[in-house]
Amino acid sequence: MKRELVISKIERGTVIDHINAGKALLVLRILGIGVGSKDTVTLAMNVPSKKMGKKDIVKVANKFIGEEELNKIALIAPKATINLIESYEVKRKFKVKLPDFIEGILRCPNRNCITNSREPVTPKFYIKLKDDVVTAKCYYCNKVIRNVDEFVI
Ligand code: CTP
Ligand code: ZN
Repeated sequence: MKRELVISKIERGTVIDHINAGKALLVLRILGIGVGSKDTVTLAMNVPSKKMGKKDIVKVANKFIGEEELNKIALIAPKATINLIESYEVKRKFKVKLPDFIEGILRCPNRNCITNSREPVTPKFYIKLKDDVVTAKCYYCNKVIRNVDEFVI
């Protein structure tokens, strides 16, 4: 008997595939999908993948998330594939592209940084890929983050 793990196909919307295993909840956070959200979202964590061993998948029905918004995901899931679905078919497929500058996604670990002051300013970071590792450098205090996952707002 063949046993398959099935996550329903969607008729229309955005499928984010090949998310690093265990990172789907961070992806949702980056996309601003959380408590009280009205979107129809299905999600799978740590499912088997030929390419990645294990992966996460997020499907947001009836919504075409903008490319710039989706590229922010590359911070924590650099191999994510985006599939835009219409009438049950993949109409467009692309890989996320790491932005070189981001605003408001990460917080600065430096407690003395102006972004952590009593009247905070929006955090901004320069993003780089070095030896397959994403690093973020604070625009204000130059602090470098190497474990960006831990600083997603
Ligand atoms: N998908 C979906 N609903 C559809 C069509 C596709 O949820 N109506 C999902 C599939 O489950 C898959 C992703 O979108 O997770 C990409 O679909 P497809 O291109 O058909 O799969 P693959 O060829 O395996 O994709 P890739 O080559 O990117 O691995
Ligand atoms: Zn800073």
